[in-house]
Amino acid sequence: MADSRRDFFKKAAALTIGAIATSTVVKSAIVTTNFLEKEILPIDGGKFTLPALPYGYDALEPHIDKLTMEIHHSKHHQAYITNLNKALETVDGNVLGSPQSLENIFNKMIMMPTAVRNNAGGHYNHSLFWQLMSAKGGGEPKGKLAEAIKTQFGSAEEFKKQFNDVAMKRFGSGWAWLVKTKDGKLAIGSTANQDNPLMILPEIEIKGTPVLALDVWEHAYYLKNQNKRADYIASWWNVVNWEVADGLYNS
Ligand SMILES: [Fe+2]
Repeated sequence: MADSRRDFFKKAAALTIGAIATSTVVKSAIVTTNFLEKEILPIDGGKFTLPALPYGYDALEPHIDKLTMEIHHSKHHQAYITNLNKALETVDGNVLGSPQSLENIFNKMIMMPTAVRNNAGGHYNHSLFWQLMSAKGGGEPKGKLAEAIKTQFGSAEEFKKQFNDVAMKRFGSGWAWLVKTKDGKLAIGSTANQDNPLMILPEIEIKGTPVLALDVWEHAYYLKNQNKRADYIASWWNVVNWEVADGLYNS
């Protein structure tokens, strides 16, 4: 289990590099290095830091507005990182292990304080969320993921309908997920707060490799859509980066 999870993180990192390298928006290698070294891979006892977005704050307009993206990334995501670093200071080094990593934190989540759970989740979830959107996103699913969606759900339309339903029914704040389970199937589910399908906790029902992640906290859409979560979800489909999702599915 540990090996497969480690493989996932490595592949996710490699995928991100590939996605960024082929992007017409991002040209800086610093972004790639930042994401790889500061988030997915061990940080050698250092601090977690905010990764640069792989596109500009206005890149997802008109679907996701610039101000929301700026506040979401520079304020909300930054706050999770700041609070994660602070919370980790309270955790015994033997529990954290060395080098520190989000993978290790998620594996040992049951031993971590709530502040680590909330903020490590917030850091990972948002980091993934940014990568799963693109100015050139939207449209239909791609690659083997498209085939799997059609096989399992009948059509992309039916899949989106079920995903939307789960995202709408998440009470309060949380995330909607498409994951690949350990038996290779696709599964749709949601988590509360900043929990995610990688955390080893008995109360988290959806487990597996994240393929899609949708933030349904109000901070993700309130400025533009106010209380209309359905409008935000409909807009989000226009920016989904299916190439990254397909890469995660194949990892
Ligand atoms: Fe968020």
